[in-house]
Amino acid sequence: MADLRGKTALVTGASSGLGREFAVQLAGMGAELVLTARREDRLDALGRELPDRFGVPVTVVPLDLTADGAPAALFEVTEGRGQPVDVLVNNAGFATLAPFLDIPLERTVDQLRLNVVALSELTWRFGRAMRARGGGHILNVASFAGFTPVPYFATYAAGKAYVRSLSEAAAHELASAGVRVCALCPSGVATEFWDVAGDGAAGGGVQAALARPEAVVAAGLRILLMASLTMRVALMPGLVVFLVLMLLQYPLSACFRFIKKPFLRNLWGMFFGVVFQYLLYREQIFIWWIP
Ligand SMILES: NC(=O)c1ccc[n+]([C@@H]2O[C@H](COP(=O)([O-])OP(=O)(O)OC[C@H]3O[C@@H](n4cnc5c(N)ncnc54)[C@H](OP(=O)(O)O)[C@@H]3O)[C@@H](O)[C@H]2O)c1
Repeated sequence: MADLRGKTALVTGASSGLGREFAVQLAGMGAELVLTARREDRLDALGRELPDRFGVPVTVVPLDLTADGAPAALFEVTEGRGQPVDVLVNNAGFATLAPFLDIPLERTVDQLRLNVVALSELTWRFGRAMRARGGGHILNVASFAGFTPVPYFATYAAGKAYVRSLSEAAAHELASAGVRVCALCPSGVATEFWDVAGDGAAGGGVQAALARPEAVVAAGLRILLMASLTMRVALMPGLVVFLVLMLLQYPLSACFRFIKKPFLRNLWGMFFGVVFQYLLYREQIFIWWIP
């Protein structure tokens, strides 16, 4: 486990799911934390729990990252006040599972503001500060869906493809300045994400096959902070999902067109997409099997 004592880590979307788990594991490494999301009560609870458990200072900054000026405000309350951020985890994000034209436009715009625009601005602002100091780590949470177009997750998948692409390019540009940029690309993880996405997106048996946030976050941080590794993109399908897809490959492909549930059709499409992309990008993708 990396030793982050004396370092500061900023986690967006820390009020639940992967972001909350990032906060816990980074605190376990000794990092001072700055946590942000909209739900202040949840952030406050973490702000009490983590100093007790790990003896690290925690600052909470309740913010709606889709609001004008929010990323700049986040920069101002950290770097602007003399608190350098050594590790940035751009984790906040959401999806909407529905046909593109049926999603209210405001919801789509909000999604792009959060998943794409705010993430880009935070990477730009904190990346510049890290480059000036000659070091730092940025982990952008993309998705398995960022490897291929996904019907019914159209803007989500497109946005995550952007995150993956931006991260890969920034990783090249910032490597010589000592700044490591990674994209974390989980497949399904058991978090509130699926409730927010709606439509019972991952109910029943699918929910049971989702990866645990603890394992996804541990692997993501290991890759981000492992000094000896040079890969820029982390691809992390949940092992169970992967094995099920492998086992079902032939029977599923035979009846693919008759599958009525969009989620299953999407999974199948994503599977083909990711294998194809993997062949193209294999030198830059690191696969971490999650038990
Ligand atoms: N779960 C999966 O299967 C999965 C798979 C691949 C990638 N991902 C990605 O993983 C990341 C974390 O998602 P999760 O699975 O942990 O879902 P989650 O439990 O729903 O967490 C999403 C986080 O984003 C925050 N957030 C949402 N809207 C926000 C806004 N406008 N301003 C600031 N913060 C906002 C939420 O906090 P508030 O509501 O308190 O603001 C929450 O803390 C996302 O980028 C998601 O796309 C998830």
